[in-house]
Amino acid sequence: MPLRGDRPTVIANFVSTLDGVVAFDTDESSGGGEVSGFFDPDRFVMGLLRAMADVVLVGAGTVRASPKHEWTARHVHRSSAALYDEWRSQLGLAAAQPTTVVASARGNLDPAHPGLSAPDVPVIVATTRAGAAHLATVRLARNARVEVVGTAAAVAAPDLLEIGRSAGAGLILCEGGPHVIGDLLESGLLDELFLTIAPQIAGRDQDAERFSFAEGLAFTVATAPWAELVSVRRSGEHLFLRYRFGRSRP
Ligand SMILES: NC(=O)c1ccc[n+]([C@@H]2O[C@H](COP(=O)([O-])OP(=O)(O)OC[C@H]3O[C@@H](n4cnc5c(N)ncnc54)[C@H](OP(=O)(O)O)[C@@H]3O)[C@@H](O)[C@H]2O)c1
Repeated sequence: MPLRGDRPTVIANFVSTLDGVVAFDTDESSGGGEVSGFFDPDRFVMGLLRAMADVVLVGAGTVRASPKHEWTARHVHRSSAALYDEWRSQLGLAAAQPTTVVASARGNLDPAHPGLSAPDVPVIVATTRAGAAHLATVRLARNARVEVVGTAAAVAAPDLLEIGRSAGAGLILCEGGPHVIGDLLESGLLDELFLTIAPQIAGRDQDAERFSFAEGLAFTVATAPWAELVSVRRSGEHLFLRYRFGRSRP
């Protein structure tokens, strides 16, 4: 993974249906797993990307939608845990686990969530003053700390990177959700996208809120970022696409 010299490199990983849906619902029973069909090779790739990341960045919506999740390689593909550990140490990464950075404006997080409370996984909640005030009323686990960033109603995307940089990150893996990615894309801060395409169609209607991987922003024809296709791989009927941003409009 080429690392930038000016700031942490930011990559994202998503799985989408053929028609661009990344979750059938935003409640607890529906996330990327249902989209990929819990496809083992997709989980393996998620683990690989986590294994080489210094930071895994997620939004609070994704944390709330995944109440049993932990943002580590070992969690997503248990049978490869030892291999991931070995590769991580071969890469010379100092920390045994990537730091989980959670973006939350409101601070509405369950401190007992396994992704926030595993003792060996450092967690930083990047939030606002209001979010920090809310979090002060709950007891976060010892591995987790709160960082108040700025005075706005949300955390600016460059500040999310700065939190990663000050935690020593060269590589930040963003696993969404769609609103965090929207912020990163709007700020031009996403370097690469790993996108798995699952061979199913979800559809949308007025009753079904079904996000694509980029929400909360709408580019124009003139501002839409284009990407370079870096690699295409296939496992069964699933496609594994890797894109790099920064390409000019064709
Ligand atoms: N298919 C996939 O690969 C994939 C990947 C990830 C997620 N998902 C799915 O996507 C759905 C969640 O979508 P979502 O858009 O709600 O997820 P999200 O982007 O993770 O969460 C949105 C929430 O994150 C916080 N947030 C986002 N940007 C922020 C910022 N700049 N500053 C401060 N807080 C910020 C806010 O939390 P507060 O409300 O706490 O202020 C906001 O309400 C779930 O169903 C999840 O399973 C799918």
